[in-house]
Amino acid sequence: MLSISQYREAFSEYLEERIRVQEPENLYEPMVYILSQGGKRLRPVLLLMATEIFNTDYHKALDAALAIEIFHNFSLVHDDIMDDAPIRRGSPTVHEKWDMNTGILSGDAMLIKAYQLFENYDNPIFKELARLFSKTAIQVCEGQQYDIDFETREDVSIEEYIKMIEYKTAVLVGASLQMGAIIAEESPECKEAIYQYGRYLGIAFQLQDDYLDAFGDPETFGKQSGGDIIENKKTFLYLKALETSGKSEGQQLEHLYSINPGDSSEKIEAVKNIFQSSGASELTRQEIKKYTKKAFDVLEKINIPREKKELLRKFGESLMEREV
Ligand code: IPE
Ligand code: IPE
Ligand code: MG
Ligand code: MG
Ligand code: MG
Repeated sequence: MLSISQYREAFSEYLEERIRVQEPENLYEPMVYILSQGGKRLRPVLLLMATEIFNTDYHKALDAALAIEIFHNFSLVHDDIMDDAPIRRGSPTVHEKWDMNTGILSGDAMLIKAYQLFENYDNPIFKELARLFSKTAIQVCEGQQYDIDFETREDVSIEEYIKMIEYKTAVLVGASLQMGAIIAEESPECKEAIYQYGRYLGIAFQLQDDYLDAFGDPETFGKQSGGDIIENKKTFLYLKALETSGKSEGQQLEHLYSINPGDSSEKIEAVKNIFQSSGASELTRQEIKKYTKKAFDVLEKINIPREKKELLRKFGESLMEREV
């Protein structure tokens, strides 16, 4: 097995070889732009690692890993349009640098490219990968729609929020790991267990993303600070703050989430203060730990050697501590 950074390196090299600008440039340049900005490469690295954990050469999984990373980046291009986000990975978003139509069409082409990469597998692996990918991609769309619907709903429950992040984020992490098990032609039990590990880790990952959106350092996080607050996103921070704060503070928070001032810095500060004083930020930290632990509990049940479990555990722990 390689180290995490070696998998990342091998993947990035593969990506650079395969993804090049061609005609028409306005379709492919944004694709290369977003894919070359890096990012953590979390999903492809997990996919390659899972393949090797199940005793199969990671080279066999490179196309699936590339498909997953292209799909992820497609979802970010469209997500940034939907969230009106100006910055990603410290650079202007595609619709800011080009325009909205360019973001929509380049995103569409990326989604198709992702599908196309699975054609490099033969049956029965092809069929299984394609089926998992379609199921996951439609769930991501469902999660994204809930996310948008929740912006203007006032009765969102924590349960609904968890389901929303499970769909928009966690299922793709689970699918990435399961694809490794599919390529390694593992047993149905292993495929299911590794998926669940990824699903729980993905929920913790999105909770952490929401936390960093408010409290992270925009320099390292690479996104607009307080973007979720500007967009009135019903995050765990928000829902918990409503639940735990007193009546007047709760009303103040609801009021802040009903206004859209031209300069949002005061709104962001006021909302963040309530997130802190209500204890919601601390409760979010605990929730991240809770879901990471659920992931580790599933890991215990997978039939792989201890040192391989340790590798996946370390990966989970590093995600919990991330600032990017
Ligand atoms: C961002 O994903 C979108 C979420 C699901 C939170 P990542 O945090 O994995 O983004 P990159 O690829 O590392 O930039
Ligand atoms: C993103 O959720 C989920 C998908 C892109 C499917 P966010 O909207 O929180 O992601 P960021 O914060 O913009 O990366
Ligand atoms: Mg977003
Ligand atoms: Mg979003
Ligand atoms: Mg976010």
